[in-house]
Amino acid sequence: MRKLGFGIIGCGAISHMHAGAVNALDSAELLACSDVSMKNLEEFSKQYGITPYKDVEKMLEDERIDIVSICTPSGLHKKFCVMCAEAKKHIVVEKPMALTPSDCDEIIEACRKNNVKMEVISQNRFKEAFIYVKKIVEEGYLGKIVCADIYMKFFRSPEYYASSNWKGTWKMDGGGALMNQGIHGIDILLFIMGKVKSVFGYARTLARDIEVEDTASAVVEFESGALGVIQGTTSVTPGYPRRLEINGDRGSIEIIDGDITVFDVEGLEKPDFGIVGSQAHKDPMAFEIDGHVRQINDLLKAIECDGSTSVDQYEGKKPVELIMAIYESSKTGRQVFLK
Ligand SMILES: NC(=O)c1ccc[n+]([C@@H]2O[C@H](COP(=O)([O-])OP(=O)(O)OC[C@H]3O[C@@H](n4cnc5c(N)ncnc54)[C@H](O)[C@@H]3O)[C@@H](O)[C@H]2O)c1
Repeated sequence: MRKLGFGIIGCGAISHMHAGAVNALDSAELLACSDVSMKNLEEFSKQYGITPYKDVEKMLEDERIDIVSICTPSGLHKKFCVMCAEAKKHIVVEKPMALTPSDCDEIIEACRKNNVKMEVISQNRFKEAFIYVKKIVEEGYLGKIVCADIYMKFFRSPEYYASSNWKGTWKMDGGGALMNQGIHGIDILLFIMGKVKSVFGYARTLARDIEVEDTASAVVEFESGALGVIQGTTSVTPGYPRRLEINGDRGSIEIIDGDITVFDVEGLEKPDFGIVGSQAHKDPMAFEIDGHVRQINDLLKAIECDGSTSVDQYEGKKPVELIMAIYESSKTGRQVFLK
């Protein structure tokens, strides 16, 4: 069978995870890339031996390409997702899918009209610990869930923001500790707990010289009735791994990064998935490639059997909606109800 051809838009830090993941999969082939930076375009295309395109439009005319990975600054995701859908290319888009729920809706409509599939990167969803915990929560092992909390006390240096022309800006990052870094944990919380009814939040810029929030705290009420806390910051020294706590009236679980650290569940042994923790709380690129490999493979399988992807455009919109609701609550000082 012919390998599916990949192109990448945006040849910066994360694009190497996409290139490595595509190269690790037998049924896919990396063929081309595009970037506005001639330096990044040249270096990346040489490193992977692929065709460089100065213009994204030209790359989208390349008939060898079936799938495009969008790895540009987040504020460009909507534009490129719509362009790729209109060119009938399937899409892998980095998180966040787009910066507002209405931009997500435009992408959803473009994918529907052009019959293309989308995978929104949320690589932690493919970690065994989260998949397992979602299952046992749904099967009722923890009883009635009363608390579901995610704490993301990360460190990003002033230089991290100063060295980028887009990180920390509203226009291209769309937010800070929540929209950029915290979205991973928020997506996992929603994956396990389902829909949120309402939220009350604070988002503040306390310690970094950036437009967007470097610290946020929110209280959520899930549709199930459970209450939860979302805390995200990029300004804590030294920075700590993400901590998820799920407590029910019959049992409790704590997961630090991807490792189950507390497992008080009657009738079940603590599972052993090995140590999968990362240093991403201190260094944005300090994580393993396997999540990207699994997620890109998920799209390849969906294309092969004309099925759905695990993190499709509808799933990708959910954390963006919740984060925007937290920002709205912080601005208005009011509880915000999710639609
Ligand atoms: N999944 C993860 O854990 C993870 C980690 C890091 C970054 N990301 C996401 O990946 C995306 C990129 O982040 P990054 O850290 O790689 O950024 P980066 O700044 O390192 O790279 C962005 C690249 O896009 C290029 N670019 C900018 N405008 C462009 C345009 N109009 N057309 C084509 N190329 C353009 C830049 O020249 C640069 O090469 C962001 O959305 C970010 O949120 C995800």
